[in-house]
Amino acid sequence: MNKNSLLSMQDLSAEQILSILGDAKSFNSSHKDWQLPKHNALVANLFFEASTRTHFSFESAEYQLGCKVADFNASTSSVTKGESLYDTVKTFEAIGYDAVVIRHPKDEYFKELENINIPILNAGDGAGNHPTQCLLDLLTMYNEFKDFKGLNVVIAGDIQHSRVAASNKQALEKLGANVFFAGPEEWQREGYPTMDFDEACKWADVVMMLRIQRERGASLANMSDEEYLEKYGLNDRRYQMMKENAIIMHPAPVNRGVEIANHLVEAKKSRIFEQMSNGVLVRKAVIKRAFGYEPF
Ligand code: CP
Repeated sequence: MNKNSLLSMQDLSAEQILSILGDAKSFNSSHKDWQLPKHNALVANLFFEASTRTHFSFESAEYQLGCKVADFNASTSSVTKGESLYDTVKTFEAIGYDAVVIRHPKDEYFKELENINIPILNAGDGAGNHPTQCLLDLLTMYNEFKDFKGLNVVIAGDIQHSRVAASNKQALEKLGANVFFAGPEEWQREGYPTMDFDEACKWADVVMMLRIQRERGASLANMSDEEYLEKYGLNDRRYQMMKENAIIMHPAPVNRGVEIANHLVEAKKSRIFEQMSNGVLVRKAVIKRAFGYEPF
């Protein structure tokens, strides 16, 4: 495995996380137009699962850095003939690609790729990890609060199926934040401390809502969207409970009117679209790191 791969937040120390965030911030100021000295680096985006934000913000970051980008479509590739993930990635390495970005439905798919030598950037593995989503979440929090130590974060909703919850728990605890979880009991995970959601809304600096991942089998018997919003979602009543400077986050896509009331998606406290903008910056930083360039 290439040492500049980014697979999980578990692989990064607090110092490394802060260094990536610092680089991402530089891409929004002093190094806006910085490009990879290696011209026309070839990057392949291998998405085996649907994506809008991650896929196209990686693509935006790659183009901004001067990369040549190949967009892989599993349904028109030799995956349909039974080719394994390993053989697919090894093929991209053999035909001259310098790095790959991979999203795959299998938890920790990257354990099959230890013999791949080019950098792998994990764009999400099943319910396992989503490191670049976590980094953009951290950048959004950092821009707001300037520190993670003592920051109160509640992550609410479908915890069981959420790689975002997993990656944020790992990173935020490492950085000294207080992290609690809320939502339906059926969707909690062992080792993830819970808090009553009403209490959490009063306590938190960051209220991070999660999408119900129906594509991974999440469902609550006989519960309508309206009932879910009332019982577990961020509605007006809970919004009013939040601290004055607290913010709302959500990795998106959003089920509007389910985990969050439609009009709160763009409310004053919401940073949901800012998170997406920050996604391009952190992806530029991790691509730069993947190609072996030191922080600015
Ligand atoms: N947040 C996120 O990963 O969104 P996409 O599935 O659209 O990439």
